[in-house]
Amino acid sequence: MRKNKIMQGVNIPRHIAIIMDGNGRWAKKRLMPRSFGHKNGMERMIGLMEHAFDLGVDYITVYALSTENLKRPKEEIEGLFNLFRNHFKQYISRVCARGVRLRAIGDISLLPEDIQKSLRESEEETACYEGKGICVAVGYGSRDEIVHAVNTAVEKGEKVTEESFSKLLYTAEVPDPDLIIRTGKEVRLSNFLLYQAAYAELYFSEKMFPDFSDKELDKAIIDFSSRTRRFGKTDEQIKNKK
Ligand code: IPE
Ligand code: IPE
Ligand code: MG
Repeated sequence: MRKNKIMQGVNIPRHIAIIMDGNGRWAKKRLMPRSFGHKNGMERMIGLMEHAFDLGVDYITVYALSTENLKRPKEEIEGLFNLFRNHFKQYISRVCARGVRLRAIGDISLLPEDIQKSLRESEEETACYEGKGICVAVGYGSRDEIVHAVNTAVEKGEKVTEESFSKLLYTAEVPDPDLIIRTGKEVRLSNFLLYQAAYAELYFSEKMFPDFSDKELDKAIIDFSSRTRRFGKTDEQIKNKK
């Protein structure tokens, strides 16, 4: 683990989830097509993942495409799929080569078959890795995920507990996020990890995603580190670890 000086002594979240918003506006400001923003966003995503793992983060979840995003104009969706086809595997294998397991979370059946296949291959190739993980949320919607989990429980005819229910979600094997970051100025969750976010710390950045640098991530983590997570308890209980 390589930590720069400013990050020494900082409490590093185990799991960071990022709503990568603002690619379109970033491109528009540069009089470029939205696809240019998505390409730069994907490159930034990889850089951020590498930086986060260097800092000692164990899990990174990135919100890449929501169920609602699939209703965007056809050219934009096709552009995103082509970006995935042409670059995703090559980029992500660079990160996974460090011993990181990739999981796709979401309703993958909403994606073209070749992309489903490519995601499944990446999942299989990295399934041997334990401890560090990336979740790529594609065709992901939290409500869809919850409804899917409820239907599975109903089919099994089993009553659920909080714990058993979380095992029916797409994120089954992954701990809840400690820190959720959203770029792009909006202050909302847009159907992301609604169940898992119960006690996550939230951080909102005014930066458009392609401008969210490694330093900006450091800032978010330093802010996270300064917060007291009480999980409903009192300060005294937290201090005395009761
Ligand atoms: C986020 O950026 C990436 C995806 C949703 C695929 P946007 O495409 O939402 O960018 P803005 O919010 O329009 O700037
Ligand atoms: C959230 O961004 C989804 C992703 C980043 C993949 P959106 O751009 O879709 O969110 P809204 O529509 O502004 O809430
Ligand atoms: Mg957006």
